[in-house]
Amino acid sequence: MTSPAPSHAGRYPAGSLAFPHRGLLGIAGLAPHEILFLLDEAEQWVELNRQPHKRDDRLAGLTIINAFFENSTRTLLSFEIAGKRLGADVVNMAVAQSSVKKGETLIDTAMTLNAMHADAIVIRHGSSGAVRLIADKVDCPVLNAGDGQHEHPTQALLDALTIRHGKGLSRDSWFNGLTVTICGDILHSRVARSNILCLTTLGAEVRVCAPPALMPAGIEAMKVTPFHDFDAALKGTDVVMMLRLQQERMQGQFIPSPREYRYLYGLTPDRLARARPDALVMHPGPMNRGIEIDSNVADLDGRSMITRQVEMGVAIRMACLDVLTRRARGVEGWA
Ligand code: CP
Repeated sequence: MTSPAPSHAGRYPAGSLAFPHRGLLGIAGLAPHEILFLLDEAEQWVELNRQPHKRDDRLAGLTIINAFFENSTRTLLSFEIAGKRLGADVVNMAVAQSSVKKGETLIDTAMTLNAMHADAIVIRHGSSGAVRLIADKVDCPVLNAGDGQHEHPTQALLDALTIRHGKGLSRDSWFNGLTVTICGDILHSRVARSNILCLTTLGAEVRVCAPPALMPAGIEAMKVTPFHDFDAALKGTDVVMMLRLQQERMQGQFIPSPREYRYLYGLTPDRLARARPDALVMHPGPMNRGIEIDSNVADLDGRSMITRQVEMGVAIRMACLDVLTRRARGVEGWA
């Protein structure tokens, strides 16, 4: 399947190393060709990571700090693996044992990390905008590993790379003609927000589906079609992306019960049959099996991309760390 580029899209010249952004705080603000550039850069790391010897020392001598103020399995581990596979010294800040617990402010923490001459800082934080606050205080590139309900840009990039591979799209293909349905807790989801921005920028048609209480007001402004009826949303869908209920961001009751939620919004085999026969199933994790997704869908061979997403996550994070440290490394061709 090939699809024409969106009319506003350009490409970097072949072999260009340029990426004009100092850090990666969100998908918002990235041009279509910049998103494709990061996907293209990740392809070499997909290949390397499938080899027995997974090592490239281009970041040797650099120090990367992972500062995660919220829990994580996939994002933290894949950033750590990504940095190490590129030869960097990777340090994970143990937030629970840090001076944050003694009341140190976020800005003082940022200035402390900066004084240690980190070459890149990866941050996850529960407050929307916290990552930008830190980025404004430090000298090195900052990568957003998820901030509150705002953005999770590397998740959207790894999801786009997974779709490219899962649908067999060539590097020259945009996502025009693809329909992606994102279902779940859209209101609290930074994954939904970053994916909407990424997928619409690449030309996909995006549908969002949620109970009324979990659908942000005015979501149409993000160039998506909102649905409350999951069966209707699935008709003609090429990719189904499921989200968990973000209980940790909910104050009060947003759904009547998990059982009722599953009945209306859970992805079951019967429901998946309403999508296109080759529709891909995705979930950023962590999953709540038996609520938003049934196990026999999550583990569906050939259709479920959930472990592929994790694989692509390492490659995308290697690409981001490589690209964003090129200026510091004096890589020729940097804009
Ligand atoms: N998808 C994702 O961000 O997972 P983690 O919370 O485990 O990092």
